[in-house]
Amino acid sequence: MSEDFIISGQVLSFASSPFDCAHASDAVVLSEAALIENGRITAVGRRDEMVARAPQLRIRDHGENLVMAGFVDAHVHFPQTAIIASWGKRLIDWLNSYTFPEEMRFSDRAYADEIAGRYLDLSLSHGTTTVCSYCTIHPESVDAFFEAARTRGQRVAAGKTCMDRNAPEGLRDTVQSAHDQSEALIARWHGVERLEYVITPRFSPTSSPEQLEALGALWHAHPECLMQTHLSEQLDEIEWVKSLFPNARDYLDTYEMFGLLGAKGIYGHAIHLEERERHRLREFGAGLVHCPTSNTFIGSGLFDMAGLIAEGQRIGLATDTGGGSSFSMLRTMAAAYEIGQLRGTPVHAAELLWLATQGSARTLRMDDKVGNIAAGMEADIVVIDLSSTPAIQQRAAHAKDLWEQIFATIMMGDDRAISQVYVAGRPIAA
Ligand code: GUN
Ligand code: ZN
Repeated sequence: MSEDFIISGQVLSFASSPFDCAHASDAVVLSEAALIENGRITAVGRRDEMVARAPQLRIRDHGENLVMAGFVDAHVHFPQTAIIASWGKRLIDWLNSYTFPEEMRFSDRAYADEIAGRYLDLSLSHGTTTVCSYCTIHPESVDAFFEAARTRGQRVAAGKTCMDRNAPEGLRDTVQSAHDQSEALIARWHGVERLEYVITPRFSPTSSPEQLEALGALWHAHPECLMQTHLSEQLDEIEWVKSLFPNARDYLDTYEMFGLLGAKGIYGHAIHLEERERHRLREFGAGLVHCPTSNTFIGSGLFDMAGLIAEGQRIGLATDTGGGSSFSMLRTMAAAYEIGQLRGTPVHAAELLWLATQGSARTLRMDDKVGNIAAGMEADIVVIDLSSTPAIQQRAAHAKDLWEQIFATIMMGDDRAISQVYVAGRPIAA
């Protein structure tokens, strides 16, 4: 168990969603300090108030640094850590050239352990405390990931990626083994400490209709689990899906017809959506995950964040490692800003921070546990230095307010801006 303490700095909390406020920054409350007891945040307020409540406790003083909820990355592939930044391919060729050969290596438990640990250490060093990850088809890759997260005390969600077609020999399961292995992994891991199992059909091109149906039945039997998959990422992928499922009304229907559309469903990318798809996603309150560095890196398209938010969709933010080109949620926020600019809808820094914490936690249905600094939340915290490099420092020096300072770090910051990370109240050497 972690030591209790008072944390002080520029403590940033969300009182509401900045997307619901006339001025985005009105959603934010700044405080001087928070009280951390038994790995949870128990109070937030003035520093002298916190000291009066717990005068015996050590104060971890972070000066002018920003103290906020650890980042929540709502869509990653930890097995793609070692092939991040692979050149020159678009989605299907990128999967076949880089991803599938690398994912093949995860039948080796020792390799899976090595990459799981490396991935979590890298993402923690970038300020990310919670992720929702795809594993590979190998159940051992799920064990490796959950054991690595458990050792670090992290709240994570993950699942075995299911594929029974259009993937190489050695990287395919079957209808039965996908169902049975997923079910055994739910029994082994779901709800153990801070770990959550996610039912994970990769995407409809790599699952037969029978496999999608079996996973739909599994989800029905385990409504406590999230379900994650990919949706409408690239135009030629969508054409392929339509040719594989000639009776489907659209891409989403290839999930919907097998019971794979639901409130606890998380759909990665969701760029090229048709009206019916948007309507059904909203009706179910499903989660859509924006993966901006991936969308530009693999050349997928420009996510319609402003339009989707305006119609009330539930949206999170993610790196999509290793289709995404960075482990950093700061870089990911910057890319979301740039895509907003290309669409003529600039995103405020408060909105970006909200997406990277509360927004992602909401899509993962964890917003009552992580993603904000508030009494009752788990103490997953990132401390951000707003002058971490000479380039940022000189810009921040003549910022007219805190938001200009924060925006400079969002646009230009990286892991050097992460001055400390706490997982369930335990400091990790950043
Ligand atoms: N669609 C199916 N699998 C993947 C993947 O691993 N990465 C991305 N970006 N898209 C996918
Ligand atoms: Zn993905």
